[in-house]
Amino acid sequence: MTLDRATAAARVAALRAEIERYDEAYFVRDAPLISDAEYDALFRELLALEEAFPELVTPDSPTQRVGGKPLPEFAEVTHAIPMLSLMNAFSEEEVRAFDRRCREGLGVTSVRYACEPKFDGVAVTLIYEEGVLVRGATRGDGYRGEDVTQNVRTVRNIPLRLRGGGFPRSLEVRGEVVMLKRDFERWNAEQAERGERVFANPRNAAAGSLRQLDPRVTAKRPLRFFAYGVAAKPHEWVAPTHGETMARLQEWGFPVAAERSIAEGVEEALAYYARMEEARERLPYGVDGVVYKVDDLAAQERLGFVARAPRFAVAHKFTPQEAITVVEAIEVQVGRTGALTPVARLRPVMVGGVRVSSATLHNEEEVRRKDVRVGDSVVVRRAGDVIPEVVQVVLDKRPAGAPLFAMPERCPACGSAVERVSGEAIARCTGGLFCPAQRKEAILHFASRRAMNIEGLGERLVDQLVHRGLVESVADLYRLRVADLVTLERMGEKSAQNLVAAISRSRATTLARFVYALGIRNVGERTARDLARHFGDLPPLMTASREALMAVPEVGPVVAEAIVHFFAEPHNRAVIAALLEAGVHWPREEPSTNTSMGRLFGKRVALTGTLSSMTRAEAQAAIERLGGRVVENVSRKTDFVVAGADPGSKLEHAQKLGITILNEEEFLELIR
Ligand code: IVH
Repeated sequence: MTLDRATAAARVAALRAEIERYDEAYFVRDAPLISDAEYDALFRELLALEEAFPELVTPDSPTQRVGGKPLPEFAEVTHAIPMLSLMNAFSEEEVRAFDRRCREGLGVTSVRYACEPKFDGVAVTLIYEEGVLVRGATRGDGYRGEDVTQNVRTVRNIPLRLRGGGFPRSLEVRGEVVMLKRDFERWNAEQAERGERVFANPRNAAAGSLRQLDPRVTAKRPLRFFAYGVAAKPHEWVAPTHGETMARLQEWGFPVAAERSIAEGVEEALAYYARMEEARERLPYGVDGVVYKVDDLAAQERLGFVARAPRFAVAHKFTPQEAITVVEAIEVQVGRTGALTPVARLRPVMVGGVRVSSATLHNEEEVRRKDVRVGDSVVVRRAGDVIPEVVQVVLDKRPAGAPLFAMPERCPACGSAVERVSGEAIARCTGGLFCPAQRKEAILHFASRRAMNIEGLGERLVDQLVHRGLVESVADLYRLRVADLVTLERMGEKSAQNLVAAISRSRATTLARFVYALGIRNVGERTARDLARHFGDLPPLMTASREALMAVPEVGPVVAEAIVHFFAEPHNRAVIAALLEAGVHWPREEPSTNTSMGRLFGKRVALTGTLSSMTRAEAQAAIERLGGRVVENVSRKTDFVVAGADPGSKLEHAQKLGITILNEEEFLELIR
């Protein structure tokens, strides 16, 4: 299907409008309108059109959020209106003194304040010309910052184009780029699992991510923006008060703090502080205080500035979130994928009003970098409900002879050997099939579609099976009976029967699927297939040396090592033996084509769509080599339909008739 340019342009415009609407709903209002899959489909369509018509790409297209080319360095930007800092107040008295100065300066008895959270992130300024984002810059020294335009474009809740109307031709919006607490936790956990450097807190994560020279890196980080003001000369004001300015910004599509409030006088401002300090934990972002701003912009103007801070605003800081305590022990926990996480057991201490008795040390590398030892006095920090962590050791207080931390050689959860892959910082348990900490993950992977393909064995069910002790290792799945299953939640007789049948069916599999199902680290579907073809059967694979493994195409030293470690672990071998005992079997794979001759004997196969790895003629030849016949039309007599990209009506027809449909990979597996 080819589109003419005009039709494409119209479709592109429609898609962008739609995607912007969904982005705004999802990222600004936190109220998604469509499913991820539907969204992805629209996004892909837009990408495809822009690829076909590159002249239609504009900087405000949602596709531009993925990040452009890396820069050698950031260009410098001079701020037309300086980005100043705020005065801090650490007590009520200091806030009252601020209020007194404002009242006296303005000659009034009470001042109305706009109150808002003080975000703990990085300040940025965004410039819009004719409603389109043209520049983003960091604060720098307040007068000159760095041009991070490419990076701010990747922040999903920053509007690339203003919504609605009524905005000035030129608009400069100021605010803070942050990483939400939940995103930070997830990101750090993933980093720790990968054995990579973690961020100390969401603020560092936001700053480090925004100042990446490669915008594609920034694009992968879950950053968010919150606007807190407009930089404008009086004749450019978009409203007479700060509160109304924020309302305007919100109308134009900017995310603003939901916790904004107006206080009539200092007492209400202090009450706001108390409410926010209490709510602090529950806020989605890290907040280190609140900001009071004189609401009336003309009054702000009259108050003016002292040195580098405005007289009309103050940051009222929360009590610090750090404390010093002693590490009483370092314990090691095992994650779902076998990664070992050291955790400091602390002498309990109050941090920001909460009792803290343990803190994560992330991974072995981090412990070594910070050199945390049992007996050390350490600074612990929590930012909101972020998991407390050890920031640094107070070296002066280290007791003599405090031992260096060392990872255990055996998994604390199951006693299997611990492996450290060369070049990776992280230590992992090798008992993937056996370890209770990894059980659920192992079972889910084992049952997944591309592995043993046990239909209906999802997360909720696996949770229950493990929790009830019905399944300890994947081999136990084959012992499940209908009578065991019907005792589970939401499990009727019929679904229990179906599940037992699905498990039973999975006994007949292929060596490639089986090897993949074992969940050996770094062994994906493709490697599993290569291994199966190369070794032909399981015993030679289990006993293969590193060298023998590396003879398989695409298997390098890291993969080889993971395989050797996996099969060396007696616990894993026991589970494999139990699986074979339970009747899991596969046809022996022969590398030569002769023995697979006839696998499609007498079968009718229809082809639809395009395959990426071969032409239609090649696919036909492969089918015929195996004794099959390619048919043009799909009918009840058709045995398989192979569906490539952009399949035609044959696919629908086949679905209606309930004919087995193979995707490209499945087809490749079949003809191999
Ligand atoms: S107003 C002229 N409002 O705090 C006053 N700043 O020390 C400009 N910040 O780097 C700042 N939340 O990035 C303002 N609600 C808020 C804020 C806020 C965080 C940061 C800001 C600046 C620092 C000022």
